[in-house]
Amino acid sequence: MPTSSPDRAAILEAFWQGGHLADPPAFLDRAREVSPVLYDPQMGLALLTGHASVSAALKSPHVRTTKYEGGDAFRASESHAVMAPMMLFHDGPSHTRLRSLAQRAFTPRVLEESREFIGSLTDELLDEAARQGEADGVAALAVPLPVTVIVRMLGLSGADAERFRGWSASVADLIGGLDVTPERWAQVEADARAMRSYFRTLADDLRAKPQPGLLSALAAAGNEGGRLSGEELLANAVLLLVAGHETTSNLISGSLHALHESPDQRAWLAENPAERAGNAVEELLRFLSPVQGTGRVALHPLTLGEVELPAGTFLSVSLAGANRDPRVFDDPHALDLARENARHHLGFAAGAHYCLGASLARLEGSVFLTRLLTRFPDYRVPEQPLAYRPNFTLRGLQELRLSLR
Ligand code: HEM
Repeated sequence: MPTSSPDRAAILEAFWQGGHLADPPAFLDRAREVSPVLYDPQMGLALLTGHASVSAALKSPHVRTTKYEGGDAFRASESHAVMAPMMLFHDGPSHTRLRSLAQRAFTPRVLEESREFIGSLTDELLDEAARQGEADGVAALAVPLPVTVIVRMLGLSGADAERFRGWSASVADLIGGLDVTPERWAQVEADARAMRSYFRTLADDLRAKPQPGLLSALAAAGNEGGRLSGEELLANAVLLLVAGHETTSNLISGSLHALHESPDQRAWLAENPAERAGNAVEELLRFLSPVQGTGRVALHPLTLGEVELPAGTFLSVSLAGANRDPRVFDDPHALDLARENARHHLGFAAGAHYCLGASLARLEGSVFLTRLLTRFPDYRVPEQPLAYRPNFTLRGLQELRLSLR
């Protein structure tokens, strides 16, 4: 039976209001069953939930990213100044310039040098959590691991880690925060002001006196488009910081919970974690989609599947929807750590903005799972209510009590 357009509009309206957040997979299934390209001309909006349409949209030369815009007041804000130069919000030559400068600093060697550190840090955090008896896996493991790794890679001093964690939470709110109250907004603006003042002279200081780490490499890197300005250095360092830990934290906490929920899968992984963790991380990225989605705008008329979308259509690109598409993944709602095509997930997006830190995230995920299941294959998670952080884009548990033994 053909679905009438009011149904489409109702699903889109509910999505836009955050109606999918209580149970994203069920909502996204419903949307995909109506159409993997759910378009409503009145709203000028299409929700993409099929693997093929999501992948095609992300790779299409006829779409651009959403800009960091908003009204005049927002454009004059401190927050806007921090966010707008992030490569995430740029296209074409200006994106290529920003991305290639960051990539130049973020080399495979820098990554390989972090492997040992990630392993010993994971062990320390596991030791401390085990000592506590019952611990919150989010606060004790999932948050400190990636934040400490990225703060160290950037070359920031350890004392700044706490400060950066607060800043990062503010930037996460700017990326997809829900119900940001006026008080919270005031805090976000104060954090943006503090970040700008911290970084104001840093680019020049680091060029004059380079320090070990990515920040100095970023400050020094140059290409035909020139070096990064102070504002660009700030925005893209903050992006690395936030992208580098808000997402990976959610992968780790989500994995702790998902493995607990699937004891057979956990036992399979624990039999040979060093060999199996690589594919397990891909499957967990597919299953959890720590970044649930992103946005794009059609620059030209675009056909996705059989749906024609006029120029100017806003595309809500559901990575979580694509990752549970039954046309690509058999039994998509099951966690199957040995899944052969797990790597076909779109958890890191695709196309020009494919996650710059994918290798680091994979490394952190697999080192964490290997150490955890080698040392604590029987960790316990008591019955507890679960709550997710209120964010449209980044899906992560607020707390997960567990005991390591
Ligand atoms: C589980 C962990 C991670 C997930 C799921 C993830 C996911 C993503 C996704 C979906 C995008 C594309 C966003 C879009 O197109 O709108 C992205 C971009 C990006 N990610 Fe990640 N990410 C993770 C970890 C990291 C890490 C560890 C870093 C760096 C240290 C990082 C740095 C970036 C950067 C810089 C971009 C922007 C790339 C560009 O615009 O060209 N990410 N990530």
